[in-house]
Amino acid sequence: REMFWAPNERQFPPFNTEPDKLKAKAQERLTQAGWYYSSCNAGINWTHYANRTAFYRHQIIPRMLIDTNARDSATTLFGHKLAAPIGFAPIGINRIYHPTGEISVAHVARDLNLLYCLSSAGSYSIEDVGEANGQGIRFFQLYQSPDDEQALSMLRRAHASGFQALMLTTDTWQLAWRHNDVDMGNYAFYHEHGVGDIGLNDSVFLQRLKEAGIDPDKEPKKAGAKWMDENIWHGHSHTWAKMPWLMKHWRSISGGKPFCLKGIQSVADAKKAVELGVDGIVVSNHAGRQVDGAIASLDALEKIVDAVGDKIVVMYDSGVRTAADVFKALALGAKFVFIGRLWVWGLGIAGETGVDHVIRALLAEFDILQECSGYPKVDDINRDALDSLPRVA
Ligand code: FNR
Repeated sequence: REMFWAPNERQFPPFNTEPDKLKAKAQERLTQAGWYYSSCNAGINWTHYANRTAFYRHQIIPRMLIDTNARDSATTLFGHKLAAPIGFAPIGINRIYHPTGEISVAHVARDLNLLYCLSSAGSYSIEDVGEANGQGIRFFQLYQSPDDEQALSMLRRAHASGFQALMLTTDTWQLAWRHNDVDMGNYAFYHEHGVGDIGLNDSVFLQRLKEAGIDPDKEPKKAGAKWMDENIWHGHSHTWAKMPWLMKHWRSISGGKPFCLKGIQSVADAKKAVELGVDGIVVSNHAGRQVDGAIASLDALEKIVDAVGDKIVVMYDSGVRTAADVFKALALGAKFVFIGRLWVWGLGIAGETGVDHVIRALLAEFDILQECSGYPKVDDINRDALDSLPRVA
């Protein structure tokens, strides 16, 4: 058992698995910048490995002689009916992986009736992605600008473009020390290539550019740099004290659409979110990209569900690679599970076709898992479905 806790993927048994091969293929296809950006974690990857190894502590208990002929992976989240409790986590600057970036991912989500979440650091505008997602269900992830007018402008645009909930990311006011990024001087690279230009056509931002004497048509890279530096990943944090302001404005702009916090890892913060009247939280450690040596997201999930699972919608991400991982997070009490790197790899390998393939494969695997393990409905999946080993200190 202790072997599972060694912080090296090659040291525990399921190595060179299909997700590993997908990752290797993505490494072959992506540019160096795309590969470095998508693969890097904080520090020396402890939290990344902790996220993965935490899944091995929980084992599924298959049930026999259950009628699994009629299965259903459908779920409802904030009143929206979705094909599965599996959605696209917000991932920034998708054009670094493929030229069609967010547009392709939004198409796949729409076609499969899966939840799509657009990042504030996206490469295409909120409006273009909203249009590409059409009748799909989409959330908007906010990196909250220190400039209130700028933040409010993003909320208005997200609501107007049909985004159904706001998800504030709370764990990334500053990007962590990520060795690959530091080696590459990547942030300079992103700026230079303008790959994260979601905000460039924002009216408030255009005004700010004017004030700074930057013409975005003549100097798009400089404008992109200003967007990144001043609106996201800027090292300027907001606190709990600001949350009622943001929640009030989002609710009033959107007519009461849900407000969620992403990046919650402690019971204390989950309780604060409940006190604040937030609609949902995403238990996440940003795929291990922020605090190296942090608690595995799945371990945090278990504690947080115990504390607030009956009071607030608890969602999950970080480290999910297979249908069994989705199953385990649901069994521990997550209502919904977001996928990050899996679809990034698909996008990097083959654009829209790649994303479609990876997600369809995951959905098929989940359907077959429901059948083989004897849990034909998502609601059947609860803690009784798991045999959980104690945590090893
Ligand atoms: C992210 N994540 C992220 N989160 C967010 O709120 N806004 C963002 O712009 C990004 N960008 C981003 C880029 C890349 C390359 C990665 C890998 C992750 C975090 C993401 O939403 C999610 O929390 C994790 O990716 C989930 O873990 P897995 O599924 O990637 O292991």
